Amino acid sequence: MRIDVITLFPRMLDGFLTESILGKGIESGRLAVNVHDLRQWTTDKHRTADDRPFGGGAGMVLKPEPVFAAIEQLQTPGCRRIYLTPDGTPLSPALAGELSRQQHLVLLSGHYEGIDQRIRDTVIDQEVSIGDYVLTNGTLAAAVLIDALARFIPGVLGEEKSLTTESFTSKLLDFPQYTRPAEFRGMSVPEILLSGNHAEIEKWRHARQVEKTRQVRPDLLK
Ligand code: ADE
Repeated sequence: MRIDVITLFPRMLDGFLTESILGKGIESGRLAVNVHDLRQWTTDKHRTADDRPFGGGAGMVLKPEPVFAAIEQLQTPGCRRIYLTPDGTPLSPALAGELSRQQHLVLLSGHYEGIDQRIRDTVIDQEVSIGDYVLTNGTLAAAVLIDALARFIPGVLGEEKSLTTESFTSKLLDFPQYTRPAEFRGMSVPEILLSGNHAEIEKWRHARQVEKTRQVRPDLLK
């Protein structure tokens, strides 16, 4: 899978793309992420990417010319062009899974008070929000989207199994995990986990999941 990210802050993604599980996915060739500085498509000597909004108001708006030029250069037939914005469709596991099956994504990170509406009307296929809070720009949102979907690309996560037993694929939050030592500063690991009785362990874990979900996210149980 190929992903192109268009942003005014390309260096924000440096560490993110080389570390951890994601870095391994990229190294193994299952995922290729290219980060592009929007300013390379500006044409004036100040490399202006934004301007004041028509009709007045605070802040600056991303200009159409460099964004159209960037997307028109990077897009491929059938690719999905996504704008990261707090007023987009909420990111969900289903959406992350669906996007992970695309051949090519072009992600546009917004900035300031927004972007010229003609960009959204013409060269964007889908708008995605990562949650009900406003970030200073969409670059971290693009990173979150990439991370969430990379986990659905076969081979990127390492162990396929961990994907299916985790939170949200089951609509229940996770059960508590423990590792050695069995006793640490007077705190013991629940006896049942040391018992070797897998049926009972499953039952115990499921009960903890229901309990945790009821406490923290009762909306998921409805
Ligand atoms: N840009 C700024 N805030 C955002 C959010 N919550 N989701 C996606 N893009 C954003």
